[in-house]
Amino acid sequence: MSIWTPTSWRNKPILQQPTYPNQDELNRVLEELKNYPPLVFAGEARTLKASLAKVANGQGFLLQGGDCAESFSEFHADNIRDSFKVMLQMAVVMTYASGLPVVKVGRMAGQFAKPRSSNTETIDGITLDSYRGDIINGSEFTKEARVPDPKRMIKAYNQASATQNLLRAFASGGLADLHQVHQWTTDFAQKDDVMQKYEKLAEDISNSLKFMEACGVTSKTYRTLRETDFYTSHEALLLPYEEAFTRQDSITGDWYDTSAHMLWIGDRTRQLDGAHVEFLRGVKNPIGVKAGPSMDADDLVRLCQTLNPENEAGRLNVIVRMGANKVGDDNTGMQRLIRAIEREGINVVWSCDPMHGNTIKSSNNFKTRPVDDILTEMKQFFQIHKAEGTHAGGVHLEMTGKNVTECIGGSFRVTEEDLSSRYHTHCDPRLNADQSLELAFLIADSLKEVQK
Ligand code: PEP
Ligand code: CO
Repeated sequence: MSIWTPTSWRNKPILQQPTYPNQDELNRVLEELKNYPPLVFAGEARTLKASLAKVANGQGFLLQGGDCAESFSEFHADNIRDSFKVMLQMAVVMTYASGLPVVKVGRMAGQFAKPRSSNTETIDGITLDSYRGDIINGSEFTKEARVPDPKRMIKAYNQASATQNLLRAFASGGLADLHQVHQWTTDFAQKDDVMQKYEKLAEDISNSLKFMEACGVTSKTYRTLRETDFYTSHEALLLPYEEAFTRQDSITGDWYDTSAHMLWIGDRTRQLDGAHVEFLRGVKNPIGVKAGPSMDADDLVRLCQTLNPENEAGRLNVIVRMGANKVGDDNTGMQRLIRAIEREGINVVWSCDPMHGNTIKSSNNFKTRPVDDILTEMKQFFQIHKAEGTHAGGVHLEMTGKNVTECIGGSFRVTEEDLSSRYHTHCDPRLNADQSLELAFLIADSLKEVQK
């Protein structure tokens, strides 16, 4: 294989990139970013990799979640706190049922760039360039907003940095203390069955903690009771930005993309000879690859061999996003992928993205996702892994701690008519706090079943 450098992706064909009108300005911004402090450290990425290696071996579960696209306008401490709290709730539900540690990774602190199915968007006969995420251009439907602006990368970095800072504070400053399990409920949580189930579980945990305290096990004496590890991730799509944060670790001499702990390659940019695969093969972070229905089993094997030639456990996460009606299909679904990977003895964490294969248009013209389809794909993911004797290792979600109405259904029924009331996403529809918790209980039941 040819020599990798942080810039070797520049010699490969590349998809889904903006065309910046002013190259000099782009280069000036990139030079500036190269001097900015890293957002994460190599040692943290290695710790995450070690945790994911356990997941790959069936001894843990990966919970990855957050916005489809972070945005400049929705940047607020409350939004970060609420998504963080819901992920803690989900993790505790899963761990309590299964006894497995849950590795928590946010689609947060840098999830700004979006691949698009079309380069242009037409509304009422007017055609403009597509919105590609706040790190690239603006979502407003005007000609000016849609022009890619390199300075947006600096704003995105600053927002990611502030978000990362707050997440670190939440993870180790007291909010994640297991004694706070009752406080993780968001203010607007619906008083439905799901919430009652959560309250009951929180009560059980509180009682266990009282017992443990009597035995001398307290937050003061055990770090794992008072703190958690919370990692960040995003799609490594905008490669000039990722290159600027790719730094050589002074301890090992290895290269890490320090814009997040974990990076993934989208379903649209995973070509074997393409720029995104070239870039990510050379950085040592844990990485993910999305696999939709068009993923060929032999291509997946070759991708794994290219991205993880040493077959290191914890390095690679295959994020399957087929859709509820496709994941179980014998010819195009997930089973053929699992069999090919098993046949070659390749180490991966399998996770399920039940969002991207289940997007529909509602009759009143909203891009939405039926919660029932999301739950169905998740259930099938577990069933297929059980039948193949492999570990259903994780979930990858577009979700928010906010009380949005973007996905339809769920135990607190969001209807098509409700969609317009709190539809805030800048890209794809997200599960709200209640819907996320409902899914967590389903995952908990499935994990419990497997652990039996
Ligand atoms: C995403 O995760 O937001 C995304 C675009 O996913 P995919 O690459 O699977 O379509
Ligand atoms: Co999305």
